[in-house]
Amino acid sequence: MPTNALDPARIRAEFPALDLGVAYFDGPGGSQVPSPVAEAVAGAMTAGLSNRGSVTDAERRADDIVTGARTAAADLLGADPRGVVFGRSMTQLTFDFARALSRDWGPGDEVVVTRLDHDANIRPWVLAAERSGATVRWLGFDPETAELDDLETVLTTRTRLVAVTAASNLLGTRPDVRAIADTAHEVDALVYVDGVHLAPHAPVDLAALGADFLGCSPYKFFGPHLGVLVARPALLETLSPDKLLPSTDAVPERFELGTLPYELLAGVTAAVDFIAGLASSAPDRRARVLESMAVVEEYEAALLDRLLAGLGAIDGVTLHGRPARRTPTVLFTVAGRSGHEVHEELARAGVNAPASHFYALEASRRAGLGDDGAVRAGVAPYTTAEDVDRLLRAVSQKLTPA
Ligand SMILES: Cc1ncc(COP(=O)(O)O)c(C=O)c1O
Repeated sequence: MPTNALDPARIRAEFPALDLGVAYFDGPGGSQVPSPVAEAVAGAMTAGLSNRGSVTDAERRADDIVTGARTAAADLLGADPRGVVFGRSMTQLTFDFARALSRDWGPGDEVVVTRLDHDANIRPWVLAAERSGATVRWLGFDPETAELDDLETVLTTRTRLVAVTAASNLLGTRPDVRAIADTAHEVDALVYVDGVHLAPHAPVDLAALGADFLGCSPYKFFGPHLGVLVARPALLETLSPDKLLPSTDAVPERFELGTLPYELLAGVTAAVDFIAGLASSAPDRRARVLESMAVVEEYEAALLDRLLAGLGAIDGVTLHGRPARRTPTVLFTVAGRSGHEVHEELARAGVNAPASHFYALEASRRAGLGDDGAVRAGVAPYTTAEDVDRLLRAVSQKLTPA
């Protein structure tokens, strides 16, 4: 296979879960895991592992795993390895950073959150604002298109932070983060970007996005369940998170509470290596990541077109949102059927596509879907045209009147 092309058969062979014959459209909730990642986790756990140190092999192994995972995450996200913070989840990291960043907020200060975001990039800021006396300004979106409103409508000279998603996990919208960041920086506000739903679908570059902080979750891109946050090391140096007395004050360790999950970090490195090898053999891993993710984006866009065209042609199906720039994530309802019924019927056809607000509760309400949400189908690099057709057949034959 030449580089710069995605070979779905080769990729699929790496995922034992696909042997079950299920079409997984639930990637936005967490992708399936390829064997090299599972093997890396198991390998770390059985190789002889201690706390980080430099005396024994087991200590050095733990240390190498941590530094290796920082370099891998940096290669994935275009960051400095010294600015890579690991945590249990993006949610936990965002609560931690909200606590640290809001220390010097007070009455008169303002923070901007959006109705498009997952609650993990809303509630930590709302709660931090409540505690500090700062004011929350809400940026809305157009419920028809799912395009974010103009930041200028809520930004003021008192804005301290803008929290915005790089891609909506519910509606697929990819806001223009660079433009938002440039506007926010004009008033010296910091920009905290939720990259959880973008990272599995497109090349990501912290500096190119203009983000001050970017969080994401390796379990959305073939890795284990944990979270990662990247920022410029010099910016991290300015923050004083809660920490134990004996734990190091060095950056980025200062932000990592307790012992890191070494085995999961080994899995992060394997996941980034897997992504880098999807469609590139460039000598440098960052270059391989960028090439591979560009190919992934193109491959998934073609499947998205097929999915949108197919669902759009079925009577009784309503597609929600039509953002100009989007991830391959589709939200739909079927007339006369609850989301749960559709989820169950699709499951009977071997198609995994759940229904919910997926924690993008504000977005679901704003889109007119209340607290029930709708059915979400997300494409991944292991998705095939046959998977898409299976989903379309199940919807048209089992769920809508003939
Ligand atoms: C867009 C988005 N942001 C944040 C999160 C929360 O991530 P985590 O589970 O790592 O806290 C999710 C999880 O679904 C998500 O899709």
